[in-house]
Parts: sequence; structure tokens; C-alpha cells
Amino acid sequence: MSGTPVKNTQPVELVVKGVSRTFPGVRGGQPTLALQPTDLEIPRNDFVTILGPSGCGKSTLLRIIAGLDKPTVGTVTLEGKPITGPGADRGMVFQSYTLFPWLTVRDNVAFGLREKGVAEKEKKEIVDSYIDKVGLRGFENYWPKQLSGGMQQRTAIARALANNPKILLLDEPFGALDNQTRGLMQELLLGIWEREQKTVIFVTHDIEEAVFMASRVVTMTARPGRIKSITPVDLPHPRHYTVKASPEFSALRLKLTEEIRSEAIAAAEHG
Ligand SMILES: Nc1ncnc2c1ncn2[C@@H]1O[C@H](COP(=O)(O)OP(=O)(O)O)[C@@H](O)[C@H]1O
Ligand SMILES: [Mg+2]
Repeated sequence: MSGTPVKNTQPVELVVKGVSRTFPGVRGGQPTLALQPTDLEIPRNDFVTILGPSGCGKSTLLRIIAGLDKPTVGTVTLEGKPITGPGADRGMVFQSYTLFPWLTVRDNVAFGLREKGVAEKEKKEIVDSYIDKVGLRGFENYWPKQLSGGMQQRTAIARALANNPKILLLDEPFGALDNQTRGLMQELLLGIWEREQKTVIFVTHDIEEAVFMASRVVTMTARPGRIKSITPVDLPHPRHYTVKASPEFSALRLKLTEEIRSEAIAAAEHG
């Protein structure tokens, strides 16, 4: 294999400390413990994937980091500052397509910059550069409904990145795409990360995707979730899809498959 493994020696940027989340019961029902107390430290420029079975609390954890939900107990800090709500320092991409249907591709990507009051000329430069980076040149004036799912997600990624967030948070962003498109989107996002060196937290339940994208894979236990293991991924960059055929990749996939399998078995045994 060509290229060199990347060792991240950057300082810790995001700290999740003792974070848990209980949702109150509906109409007198039992409360749901969605996330057990969780600690996680993420260094700057890390590409962390969070892998776990459905319902284990991945989205809950990500939404708390995004400031879209509050922990029942615990704190999240970004560069030492507590997160108390959503902010431009965190960009979010969801699985379902969340573009503004009444805005063109260009205006969707420009949305955050317009909110911030960025001058017209600078805004155009930034928007054009991200439209290029996600390969949507020529589609600037299309409406979301005229785009394929993959193109919509490329627009959503460009919209999140155009704000220059410190952290990009993605919740199963490619989950609704066909396999072929999904693989291309993985490479596209990884390529952007390799060039821009952003901190990324990427939630997925797909083991292969988790390994391929990550500098570190965080696995979670079955519901109620907590962190089960953290696995460094020292596969070289630039990372090309052919790495998926390497023995190193297979070994990581097998290790994580066993971990996730044992969670699925435990979940089945305990209801
Ligand atoms: N707003 C909510 N109210 C009540 N229960 C919720 C809410 N959001 C999530 N849950 C429950 O918390 C658990 C974890 O959900 P979630 O974080 O969405 O898991 P994942 O993203 O790993 O599939 C699930 O049992 C889910 O039903
Ligand atoms: Mg989820």
C-alpha cells in the first residue's frame, strides 16, 4: 500500500464528560435511558466514526454535541467552552435530505454565510469553491427536488462546510443512498477531509463505512448505549476504495464485526 499512516498528535478539541440522556416517559410511561454516562475526547482534525446498532443512542449523542438536545447529566465542551445550544462552530448533516426546498443549490450553500452577513463578493467565492469541491458545478441553479439523493447530500455537505465550522457532525449521511453512490460519497468526503483537515464525527451503523472513513472508530453497546471500544485506524491517506481489499482492512472489519455481533446477541437475549 502507498501513502503513510497519519498519527494525530493535535490537542483535544471536543470533550464529552459524563454525558447521559434520559427521555421522560410519555403519558405516565417509563422513562427511556437512551445514553449511559459517556466520556469521549476528540483531538482536532480527527475523523471519528461512531458505530453501533440501531437505537443505541448514536443520534442522541450527536444531537447533544450539536446542541440540538441537552444531556440529562454531564457536559460537552468545545475548545474548553461549554456547548449550550447550536452554533456556527458545528456543522450538521443528517440522513434525511434537509435542504431548503425553496432555495437553489447556490442559495442553500450560501445560507449560513448570508445569515452571518458575509459580503457578496466573498460569499460568492466561498460558495463557488464548495460547489466545486463537492462536484456540483453546473447545478448551482437547480432546485433540491431536481437533484438525486447523492447530489442533495453533496449540497448539504457543501452548506455545512461553507460556514467553516470547527467540527462537522454527520448522522448516517449516506444511509439512504444506493451502494454505488454511497461509495463515491465516502471517497468525496474523505478527500475533502484529507485536504481541509477538519474535525469530523460521523455516525453510521455500517461497519465497512466506519472503518473506511475513520482515523478512530468508536463502538457503542446496545441500548442503552455507552462507549464499548475505541479502535485506531492506521490505514494510509490518501485513502482509496481499493484499501477495502487489504488484509489490514479485513482485520479491522472482522474485529468490529465481532464486537457489534456480540452487542446484537446481547440485545436479543435481554429483549
Ligand atoms: N425524543 C425522544 N423521546 C423519547 N425517546 C427517544 C427520543 N429520541 C430517542 N429516543 C430513544 O432513545 C434511544 C436511542 O435513540 P437514538 O439516539 O436515536 O439511537 P440511534 O441513533 O443509535 O439509532 C432509542 O430507544 C429511542 O427510541
Ligand atoms: Mg440515529
